[in-house]
Amino acid sequence: MKKNNERMLITGVSGLLGNNLAYYFKNKYEILGFYCSHPVSMAGIKTEKLDLLDKSSLKKIIQEFKPSVIIHCASLANVDRCENDPEIASKINVLSTKNIVEIIANKDTTLVYISSDSVYDGVLGNFSEIDSINPLNCYGRTKYEGELEVLKEENCIIFRTNFFGWNIQDKKSIGEWILDELKAGRQIKGFNDAYFSSIYTFELAKVIDIAIQNQLHGVYNCGSADSCSKYEFSLKIANRFSFESKSIVPSSIDDFPFKAKRGKNLSLNVSKLQKSLDYRLPTIDQSIDEFYKDYRCGLPKIIAQDRLENRKESIFIPYGKQYIDENDIQAVAEVLRSERITQGPKIVEFERKLAEYCDARYAVAVNSGTSALHIACLVAGVEQGDEGITSPITFVASANCFVSCNARPVFADIDSKTYNIDPWEIKKKITNKTKVVIPVHLAGQSCDMEAIQKIVREKEKEFSTKIFIIEDACHALGSYYNNKKVGSCAYSDLTVMSFHPVKHITTGEGGAVLTNDEMLYNKLKLFRSHGITNNPKEFIYDDHAFQNGISGSKPLLSPWYYEQVDLGYNYRITDIQSALGTSQLKRLHAIRKRRREIVDTYNQDFSHIEGIQTPYESAKGDSNFHLYILLFDFKKLGITRTQLMTELKKQGIQTQVHYIPVHTQPYFQKNFGTSWGDCPIAEEYYQRCLSIPLFPAMTNGDVKRVIDKIKNAIRKWT
Ligand SMILES: Cc1ncc(COP(=O)(O)O)c(C=O)c1O
Repeated sequence: MKKNNERMLITGVSGLLGNNLAYYFKNKYEILGFYCSHPVSMAGIKTEKLDLLDKSSLKKIIQEFKPSVIIHCASLANVDRCENDPEIASKINVLSTKNIVEIIANKDTTLVYISSDSVYDGVLGNFSEIDSINPLNCYGRTKYEGELEVLKEENCIIFRTNFFGWNIQDKKSIGEWILDELKAGRQIKGFNDAYFSSIYTFELAKVIDIAIQNQLHGVYNCGSADSCSKYEFSLKIANRFSFESKSIVPSSIDDFPFKAKRGKNLSLNVSKLQKSLDYRLPTIDQSIDEFYKDYRCGLPKIIAQDRLENRKESIFIPYGKQYIDENDIQAVAEVLRSERITQGPKIVEFERKLAEYCDARYAVAVNSGTSALHIACLVAGVEQGDEGITSPITFVASANCFVSCNARPVFADIDSKTYNIDPWEIKKKITNKTKVVIPVHLAGQSCDMEAIQKIVREKEKEFSTKIFIIEDACHALGSYYNNKKVGSCAYSDLTVMSFHPVKHITTGEGGAVLTNDEMLYNKLKLFRSHGITNNPKEFIYDDHAFQNGISGSKPLLSPWYYEQVDLGYNYRITDIQSALGTSQLKRLHAIRKRRREIVDTYNQDFSHIEGIQTPYESAKGDSNFHLYILLFDFKKLGITRTQLMTELKKQGIQTQVHYIPVHTQPYFQKNFGTSWGDCPIAEEYYQRCLSIPLFPAMTNGDVKRVIDKIKNAIRKWT
């Protein structure tokens, strides 16, 4: 998404709403966020510590930053603290607002003021904007006084609201608090005499967005379109997150000795806003639904990352790492408690979901990507005397699979832009002995499969022989090529995946082969498990398999009977691993999105540095970014790769080289006569490449740290 070159200033960026708004608007605006006592740094957002009472500093920054929109979220929202310290409440809630209003007076800046449902007295409920203002406590009073300051300017929107969401700080919104209590199995006393129209922060953000676009002015109630008691709200949360609700008990707000008086029915009538924007606000159920969906997509963790960033400075950042959540753990635990931990239904389920995800007809899951490559070659019939072509820039397994079938590995040089195998180099290397071509989608970017398929099919005709195309997509689950999923085998016979922990999804160790060909599918299953079949249709010795039944009836299959019909292996994956895989697959979309965010940040920061080349992205593909590989001009930068890697390691950052060209490995040189000089472009790439950390659990702080440390290391040596 592109920013519209407009700037937004958010006060209270370390609070629940301020932070969530910054997250929501960051792709639309250049954002500057002010915090007071809780530092946050968010990727793509500038944050600054500022006391809003320091009017001259505030003025200077606003004049320099020139925001077109200010969302004023900063406030002292702790109702009892306001009651205890009305002077502070007045300073934060009124004076800071007054300062902002005076600074933007007569300017073209839209001010959005976040007010509260507490400006009403909570007696009758269903309050509309024309109802009388009668706050019961200091918090409501100071929020209303803030409104009066705001109304001195024309270009302003005031939202009286009540919200819940995922907090960046340890503080908890009502939704989070209920969830925590449910998780801990503690009793929740839900007020059945306190009503509200709370709205999910990201739903509120949408409304603010539309209101700004529509140049709305004035005072509006903005909550969910309906209301419920806090007791009912707790039940709704429990229900949506699949918790039992027996720990939730009804109680009265009167039984709680709060310092500040609270309104009992603060439900809001939102008709004015809905009419003005021609927009339907969500119901409380819909708000909770969105709150839940974001939870499932890992949003709370992403938000919490910003909080953690300062604490994480001393922690080691690897170049890649798994991303496990509670759902994964639960899925695995469920299998461990079940009857079947291997050769059971979870494997079948994982295979089905994987095939569905990739738009392929079949998937066979195995215990590693290496095993997957081996059985893919076996079903292709690779044997002694055959040749297999692959890229030199890959993990050795892509070539070892030929060797395991007693065939000869042949290496075709790479394309200098994509670092993937060059189709024209394949053309040069194909002979009448070529049985298989294995293009490797390095770092997640698909090879030019159209060109490869065309070349291979032409050569098949020329040599009157079948040449299999096996995609090594161990890096590329979730990538696209020509708008088709990698794994769909649209341009190949078979596609291989790996689920090693650094990959997009993990099963601990694991892999899979995908295909659309039923015959290949059946053979894959055979080779995965010793070459043994218990499918009667595949039996060779029927006379052993079947015994005479009772006279006159059909022969009966002997229950113990199986046949080994070929030489296979034990490459089986377990149900434990498969359950993890299925659970991880559900988050692939979110994982992909997070990786892309990190890549965008890296691209922004590294593309301006002379001597560093950021990854090229082919227009035909959409990479999942398994790796982020930078090419360094080490000579120009005056630093060697060893020096850079060592320095970064000292700073707690792991980098890696992907890969040493396989044809230069001693094993291949010794046994297949390959040598340096065979693939000059790959060798040149190898001199310059370095993968820097990229994994979805990286915090924004981690990303910033990697960028800073690389820049510093380069500066230090040059
Ligand atoms: C391109 C490529 N192919 C194959 C493999 C082998 O996969 P596994 O480690 O699951 O055996 C890997 C592993 O990293 C790989 O990167």
